[in-house]
Amino acid sequence: MCGIIGYIGKQQATPILIEGLRRLEYRGYDSAGVAVLQNRELATRKKKGKIDEGLAKLVQANPIYGQVGMGHTRWATHGPPTDENSHPHLDQSGKLAVVHNGVIENFDSLKERFLEEGHTFKSATDTEVLAHLIGHHYDELMKSGKGNWTGEGTHPLAQAVMNALREVIGTYGIGVICTDHPGVMVGARRGSPLIVGVGEGEHFLASDASAIVSHTRTVIYLKDYDVVTLFPDKFKMDSLGSEVASFQLSKIEFDADAAERGKFAHYMLKEIFEQPKTVQNAIRGRLDAEDGTAKFGGLNMTTAELRAIDQIVITACGTSWHAALVGEYLIEEFAHIPVEVEYASEFRYRNAPIEKNTLVLVITQSGETADTLAGLRESKRRGHRVLSICNVVGSTIAREADGGIYLHAGPEIGVASTKAFVSQVSVLTMFALMMGRIRMLSNRRGSQIIKALEAIPDQIQKILDQSEEIKRIALKYAHAEDFFFLGRQYNFPVALEGALKLKEISYIHAEGYPAAEMKHGPIAMIDEKTPTVILAPTDALYEKTFSNLEEIKARKGPIIALATEGNDRIKEKVEDVIYLPATWEPLHPLLAVIPLQLLSYYIAVARGCDVDKPRNLAKSVTVE
Ligand code: F6R
Repeated sequence: MCGIIGYIGKQQATPILIEGLRRLEYRGYDSAGVAVLQNRELATRKKKGKIDEGLAKLVQANPIYGQVGMGHTRWATHGPPTDENSHPHLDQSGKLAVVHNGVIENFDSLKERFLEEGHTFKSATDTEVLAHLIGHHYDELMKSGKGNWTGEGTHPLAQAVMNALREVIGTYGIGVICTDHPGVMVGARRGSPLIVGVGEGEHFLASDASAIVSHTRTVIYLKDYDVVTLFPDKFKMDSLGSEVASFQLSKIEFDADAAERGKFAHYMLKEIFEQPKTVQNAIRGRLDAEDGTAKFGGLNMTTAELRAIDQIVITACGTSWHAALVGEYLIEEFAHIPVEVEYASEFRYRNAPIEKNTLVLVITQSGETADTLAGLRESKRRGHRVLSICNVVGSTIAREADGGIYLHAGPEIGVASTKAFVSQVSVLTMFALMMGRIRMLSNRRGSQIIKALEAIPDQIQKILDQSEEIKRIALKYAHAEDFFFLGRQYNFPVALEGALKLKEISYIHAEGYPAAEMKHGPIAMIDEKTPTVILAPTDALYEKTFSNLEEIKARKGPIIALATEGNDRIKEKVEDVIYLPATWEPLHPLLAVIPLQLLSYYIAVARGCDVDKPRNLAKSVTVE
């Protein structure tokens, strides 16, 4: 949520900032702005709305030149999306600019203090208060004669930032520049992601790697309480915490073009079509056909420790929570270990009694979701072992977990999560298989699961090849105002996910239910204008699901069925059928979710919605 980009070096900063902001736009698109040091003055441009419609035009009409600057794309928290509330924000003197991702919880009391001192504020944001606070500490340093820097120790601008942050309650990833120090940029983090890109004679500050991967692949993932001072040719790390400052250089794993849209109209469509490959990437090197099991390099747990687990708690948010629900079915089925799935936002505040030998799994695409991170920290505080299933390498959750499994799905830019879900379920399948093989699952059964999993990429491709037919169906129902998604067992979480996808990108009211629950209330909503997507694979519960389908039909509800290839009978009962290849029942979610993603996508496009930037949303939810 909110994207930060900063540049210090020999190149013109503005084009780098605008390009970086375009790549970060999925993190927030309410407004955007840049501040560049131009002839020792701060030149700022800020505009409400998306970058290409607002800021980029403003900068083109009124260019700014300079080799040090910062940009920000905003997802509004304090104050509505307006030009004034856009970042960067300046301090009282106008010499110092700040970009910020996070929430300053005590901004009210700080603001009151500065108002009493005669400060004036131009925006309703907490960030402007932070800028005034840093400016205040900078002035204090200057007055005390400690503002001269000899080239050794902590730079005065960094010192002012540190003094200010000691007064702050809340979360931040920030960038700071000041006209007094045209060759310096300061970054700091607590709770909101921030990375440093290390180039030759230049440095970058960014919320994530996709913003800078075309410039450098060498990065430092800042830790909470790190404060970094960037110069064109060097940097210095300080820490606000009790530990001595330290850092580690890392390499960005993916190529710049992995974060490009390519020939696709939207990132979401590109990511849907990538799924045969992302499943292959998730399973590559992890399946052991001989022993009929799966193996992971980064669990940091011995087989004996895994064997001793009596319970698993999985915590996550949104789409990742839906993957967790599939995981619950898989782990209980394959390994007979009781599993609880918890919304991270509830789990962290609940005093849930958790047994001693409980493993906590956190599932997250971004690795930065604030609620999930808080759930991880709470679990660790209670002394539980925590493993993460995460996509973004080097993200906070991946680093703070005791061990984990990466998805290797590549950057997911579309705000609506698609390929991450399929990769998460693939990883959960392998995890359940491994846990099962440690316990009671036979080698023969394990080999069957492996075979079925290895067939999934081609089967997904077969479904993607039907995209024109799915589009035709989507256009038929694009006008609907309510939708239901029904499924049983493994397909129930997929029904939830189908409903979430549709509502978040097309703004159609949609609900997912276990198919048999309809008759306990929701069926009252069914009429000839309310379509139902029913997941009806030819599995053990097919006849039961078919009865639920009949119940909807009897109330004149139009039905789109997802059925297994060869099921001709269903065609006569429903308006539309999407056929899926046959797979083993527990793996069905990996196939069934694909047409639901496409259906949502085509409906949203038909309704003229901005699929990659749905209203009110942003990717990577770093606020609570
Ligand atoms: C829905 C969606 C969100 C995320 C949720 C968790 O399409 O993208 O519901 O799944 O915000 O995000 P991660 O997985 O990054 O923790």
